[in-house]
Amino acid sequence: MIVMGIESSCDETGVGIVRRREDGTCELLADEVASSVDQHARYGGVVPEVASRAHLEAIVPTMRRALAAAGIERPDALAVTIGPGLAGALLVGVAAAKAYAAAWDVPFYALNHLGGHVAVDTLEHGPMPPSVALLVSGGHTHLLHVTSLEQPIVELGSTVDDAAGEAFDKVARLLGLGYPGGPALDAIARDGDPSAIAFPRGMTGPRDARHDFSFSGLKTAVARYVEKCAREDRAVPIPDVAASFQEAVADVLTMKALRACGDLGVDTLVLGGGATANSRIRSLAAERCEAAGVTLRVPKPRLCTDNGVMIAALGAHVVAGGARPSPLTVATDPGLPV
Ligand code: KG4
Ligand code: ZN
Repeated sequence: MIVMGIESSCDETGVGIVRRREDGTCELLADEVASSVDQHARYGGVVPEVASRAHLEAIVPTMRRALAAAGIERPDALAVTIGPGLAGALLVGVAAAKAYAAAWDVPFYALNHLGGHVAVDTLEHGPMPPSVALLVSGGHTHLLHVTSLEQPIVELGSTVDDAAGEAFDKVARLLGLGYPGGPALDAIARDGDPSAIAFPRGMTGPRDARHDFSFSGLKTAVARYVEKCAREDRAVPIPDVAASFQEAVADVLTMKALRACGDLGVDTLVLGGGATANSRIRSLAAERCEAAGVTLRVPKPRLCTDNGVMIAALGAHVVAGGARPSPLTVATDPGLPV
C-alpha cells in the first residue's frame, strides 16, 4: 500500500510518499518540500495571500517530483491536510488532492495536520505506544494524548495566545535577528547566560489544571526589558536576553509535558513541530524525561517541520485502520480542532 500525502496549511508545499509494509511499519519513498518562507521574510511573518499563490505555483511540480523520486506513476491512496491552517493555502492542496484522486481513481483521505506531526515519528521509531505529544511550531503549541494513531487524539491543552515558535520569531525580531528568527535566537543564546534575567513562566501555577500555555506575557516582559535598557541608555545584552527567554520557553514546555505524562500515567513523550529543532527544548526534554523515566521520541528536524511525509504517514495508519475514504465534497476547515 503506497500513500501520497499533501500538505499546504501554511508556507510549505509538501508532498510525501510512503509504503506501508505488512508488519505495519512504513518506508519513506519521497519527501519533496517547496517553501515560500523567503517571500514572507520582508513582512516578518507569513502573508496568507503570498503563501496561497506560492502553493498554486508549486503544487503540481512538487507532486511530479515526488512521484519521480518514488519511481511510481500513482499512489494507492491520497491523503491531504484539511485543517487547521490558512484557508487559502489549505484550499490549494485540497483541490489538487481531490482532482488527482478523481483522475487516478484512488481513495481520498482528508486529515488533521496535528495528527500528521505525531504520526511522522513512526517512520523513524516504529509503532507508537500510548503517548503524550508536544507540538510546537510557528502556528501551534499543543499537548495531546495519543492512545493509538487509529483512535481519535485528545487535546490536553494548547496556547491561549501566541504559539511558542511565534514567540521565538517575535522576540528575535525585537532583538534584530531577522525572520524566521527561532534558529538565529537559538544560535546566539549559546553565548548567553540562561539565568541572567528572570523572565516569567506563564500558566505554570498549581491551579492551571488544564495543560494550557501562555507566551504573550513572556514576550511582553522581553519587550519591557529591551525598553528599560534603552531608557537607561545601555546596550541590550542580546545573548543573555536570548538565553533567558529560551530557557523560560523550554522550561514551561517540558515541565508541562512531563506533568501531563505524570497525570495520565503515560511513559512516552513525542515531540513535533518546527520549534522542536530548538537545542534547549531538546536538551531539557531529554534531561527531564530521563529523570522521570519517560521515553523521549523526537523525529529528525527535517520531519519535525511541515512536510507531506507526515500526512502520508498518518494516511497509511488511517487506511490500515479501516477508515472510510472522505467524500470529494469535503470542505477545508481552517479552524479544525484536534
Ligand atoms: O513547523 P514549522 O516549520 O512551521 C510552522 O510554523 O508550522 O515551524 C517553524 C517555526 C518558526 O516559528 C521558527 O522560528 C521555529 O519554528 N524554529 C525554531 C528553531 N527552528 C525553527 N525556534 C526556536 N529554535 C530553533 N532552533
Ligand atoms: Zn505544523
